[in-house]
Amino acid sequence: MSADQSTPSPARGPAIQVRGLEKSYQKLHVLRGVDFDVTPGSIFALLGSNGAGKTTVVRILATLLKPDGGTAQVHGLDVVTRAARVRESISLTGQFAAVDEILTGRENLVLVARLRHLSDPGRIADDLLGRFALTDAAGRRVSTYSGGMRRRLDIAMSLIGDPPVIFLDEPTTGLDPQARLEVWQAVRELARQGTTVLLTTQYLDEAEQLADRIAVLHHGRIIADGTLAELRQLLPPATVEYVEKQPTLEDVFLAIVGDTGTGSTGSTRTDATVAAVRPDGTSS
Ligand SMILES: Nc1ncnc2c1ncn2[C@@H]1O[C@H](COP(=O)(O)OP(=O)(O)OP(=O)(O)O)[C@@H](O)[C@H]1O
Ligand SMILES: [Mg+2]
Repeated sequence: MSADQSTPSPARGPAIQVRGLEKSYQKLHVLRGVDFDVTPGSIFALLGSNGAGKTTVVRILATLLKPDGGTAQVHGLDVVTRAARVRESISLTGQFAAVDEILTGRENLVLVARLRHLSDPGRIADDLLGRFALTDAAGRRVSTYSGGMRRRLDIAMSLIGDPPVIFLDEPTTGLDPQARLEVWQAVRELARQGTTVLLTTQYLDEAEQLADRIAVLHHGRIIADGTLAELRQLLPPATVEYVEKQPTLEDVFLAIVGDTGTGSTGSTRTDATVAAVRPDGTSS
């Protein structure tokens, strides 16, 4: 399902725009006003701990779940009122691989291309197998694939029809380091070709490696949003040690999340939480 010609050009505005997004499950108020923008053709990482609401955001953006409040747009199209149009320009690779184990890799791809009524499903499958370094394994049942191969096939499947926006929900969870590198390479390649990628991850190094922009979802809100360099600036340049050794994204994450068990909701960064992890070990 490629975007039709009337799909607004991604160049006209953010590929994804989220404003004041709210969502509760019964009494559990998971999203409490989430805001962020994703630039077309960029890789945007949504970071958060288990249960932070990352998958909830992705499911809303992918039109699978309705928000209780706020708005979300993909290429200027509202995900609630223009859901069908939004679905034409997105694809979702869920948190759990959606490939069919009994089929071969190639059969999986051909099946999806057929379901999407695309012409020449075989050629589409072969192109994607090549792009994701799966040509040699194309004729093998997926049940014989490694985790990394499955994940790459899963991502390949979600690219059928060339969606301009792709959501990857924890694309490398459970993968070994080599398989993670392979998936990272595939994601970078996507962005290089102009696809907008929104990925969720709990792995700080993944965001650090891949993302043009990183947002931290915590207690229902985005508590930090910026490039890696911008997020690093959230830490005070307190000591010589800090100057010599750049903080990792993990330092920044722990500082801004500052989960000291206050149970507060939608907390914003405070100097106190940052001070708690100053690289020189002192507090202010
Ligand atoms: N359908 C549902 N019904 C009730 N509660 C839900 C439902 N889906 C999610 N939740 C709860 O909402 C919260 C956020 O879930 P979500 O799956 O969005 O988090 P996440 O950030 O993706 O977590 P993880 O890193 O574990 O994937 C969790 O507490 C979860 O238990
Ligand atoms: Mg999740």
